[in-house]
Amino acid sequence: MKCIRSEIIGWGHYLPPKVLTNDDLSKMVDTNDEWISTRTGIKSRHVSEGQTTADISVKASEMALKNAGLTISDIDLIVVGTLTPDNTTPSVAAKIGGVMGARPGMPTFDVAAACSGFVYALTVADNMIRLGQIKTALVIGAETLSNIVDWTDRNTCVLFGDGAGAVVIRAKEGDGTSQDTGILSTRLYSDGSQYNSLYVSGGVSTTKTAGFVVMNGKEVFKFAVGALAEASEAVMKDGGVSVDEVDWFLPHQANIRIIEGVGHKFGISDDKIIVTVDHHGNTSAASIPLALSESLESGKVKKGDLVVISAMGAGFTWGGVLVRI
Ligand code: ACO
Repeated sequence: MKCIRSEIIGWGHYLPPKVLTNDDLSKMVDTNDEWISTRTGIKSRHVSEGQTTADISVKASEMALKNAGLTISDIDLIVVGTLTPDNTTPSVAAKIGGVMGARPGMPTFDVAAACSGFVYALTVADNMIRLGQIKTALVIGAETLSNIVDWTDRNTCVLFGDGAGAVVIRAKEGDGTSQDTGILSTRLYSDGSQYNSLYVSGGVSTTKTAGFVVMNGKEVFKFAVGALAEASEAVMKDGGVSVDEVDWFLPHQANIRIIEGVGHKFGISDDKIIVTVDHHGNTSAASIPLALSESLESGKVKKGDLVVISAMGAGFTWGGVLVRI
C-alpha cells in the first residue's frame, strides 16, 4: 500500500581540526595507547578549541544541504540531538536556524536523549514527515563533549570526542514494502531506573553547573550490547527484513568491544559493521550521523543499501532505525 517515507537526500559532517591521540592523552593522565586501544578501539579523537556545538553543527548542515542540492529556506524543521548545547536555553536548533537564515516561523528544537539523541531526533522528524506536517527536515547530532569531560579522570577522558553530523530527509511516496528507499521503521526505548549508571554531574536545578561525565563502565557495557541488539532486532522485524538482507550495521560508536558484541549476537561479519570509533572516539549523539555521512561520502555505503542503525545512551535510552539509502 502506498505510503510516505522519509528519504535521506543529503548528508554532512564536521570534525574540529584539533586531533588528540592516545599518546597525547598519556602525557595528561596515567594511561597508554595499548590500554586505550585494546579496551576501547579508540586511537584518536577530535576536540574543539572554542568552536561551539552550534558552530560545528552549522558546518555539518552546510555540507548536508549542499549535498541535497537545497538551501536552508527549503527546510521545514531543524531538530538536534545533543547533550552539550551552547546555552541552557534556547535550543541549539534555534541558534542554527538563526545563524543559517532559516525561514521565520518554522519549528526548531533539541532532543535530550544523550547518545541516542540522533536516533530520537530522526524518529521524531520521520513521524512529522509521515503525518504530513512537514516535507523536509534537517536532522543533526552534534556534541562538544570535551567541555564536560574531566581531563584528569583517566576512566572517562580517553573515551570521548567532539563532532557533528547531519542529514536532510524529505517526504517521498513509497510502495509500503521493504524495497522502498527511506526510513522503513524506528523504535525508541528508555529505562530511568538506570539514571545513575551514566550521567553528567551538573545541572541547572541541582548544582547550577555543567558538571562532568560520570559512568559505571561495566554496567554501561553490559546493558549496551543487549539494548543495541534489541533495537536492531525490533527495527528489522518491523521493517520485514532478515539479518541476511542488511548491507550495513551502524551501532553507536562507543567502544569497539560493544560494537563487535552486537555484531556477534547476530552472527554478522565484521565487514558489514561500520566502525569510526577508532578516529572519532565516542561522540555521543553525533556518532551515528558522523559515521553515516563519512561512509556515504567515501562511497562505502551506496544508494539502495539497507542500513540498521542502533544507539544507546544515558537514561538509559536506546533505539533503532532501519533505512534504505
Ligand atoms: N588507562 C589505564 N588504566 C585505566 C584507564 C586508562 N584510561 N581507565 C581505567 N583504568 C584502570 C582502572 O583504574 C582499573 O585499574 P584497577 O584494576 O587498578 O582498579 C583497570 O584499568 C581496569 O578497569 P576496568 O574498569 O575493569 O576496565 P574495563 O575492562 O571494564 O574497561 C571501559 C573500562 C573501557 C570503560 C569499559 O568498562 C567499557 O567499555 N565500558 C563501556 C562504557 C562506555 O563505552 N561508555 C561510553 C559512554 S556510554 C555510551 O556511549 C553508551
